Amino acid sequence: MGTRSEVKKLIRSGFVTVNGIIVRDEGSHISKEDTVELYGKLVLPHRMVYLALNKPVGYVSDRTENEASVYDLIDHPYIDELQVAGRLDKDVEGLVLLSNDGIFIHKIISPKHHVKKEYLVWFQGELTQEKIEVVERGLTIGTEKFKPAKLKLIEPNLLSLVISEGKYHQVKRMMKALNLNYSRIQRIRIGTIELGDMNPGDFRELSGEEIESLFLNS
Ligand code: URA
Repeated sequence: MGTRSEVKKLIRSGFVTVNGIIVRDEGSHISKEDTVELYGKLVLPHRMVYLALNKPVGYVSDRTENEASVYDLIDHPYIDELQVAGRLDKDVEGLVLLSNDGIFIHKIISPKHHVKKEYLVWFQGELTQEKIEVVERGLTIGTEKFKPAKLKLIEPNLLSLVISEGKYHQVKRMMKALNLNYSRIQRIRIGTIELGDMNPGDFRELSGEEIESLFLNS
């Protein structure tokens, strides 16, 4: 709505109504049940928003004018405040969480909190027991050491990889180090939040229980 002094000015000028009545007293108390309007348009109380999006391939995770962006897929009154909690590359699809809650975003992306991210990878190459064990002990690429992760073969050319950090191009770099070629990467879980059966491009608000369980169990 604006800064405190701007809001006071709007109220004093008679542009704000509560339940249809102009209020000029900036100290008036309002409750959740009251309808507040500015210039006749509903003013919603500020709240924390948590969204899950199924990002399709071809969309970037940043706000940009030049390319298709995840923000183009979201029609939401808080869109300007939302930040992505853990980006996906343009050619990677699946679960993206967005919020205007900085603490929530930090918790998801900070490696300190060990929130697990699960990826499905469609691959070509030989996945040996030895490679699985290397990943479980913590893969090293040059001087960079990745935290122990879980790698499981699901089908002959499909694996699940669960990591608890989000380093630059991490899944792709791990696949390369294991000498596996990927044709498709999809994130299907962040902590306790699953992609489930959302269609590509769809988004939904997380429920209170989902947010709570993410904080309690991740
Ligand atoms: N790892 C990657 O390589 N890319 C992503 O988008 C996410 C994880």
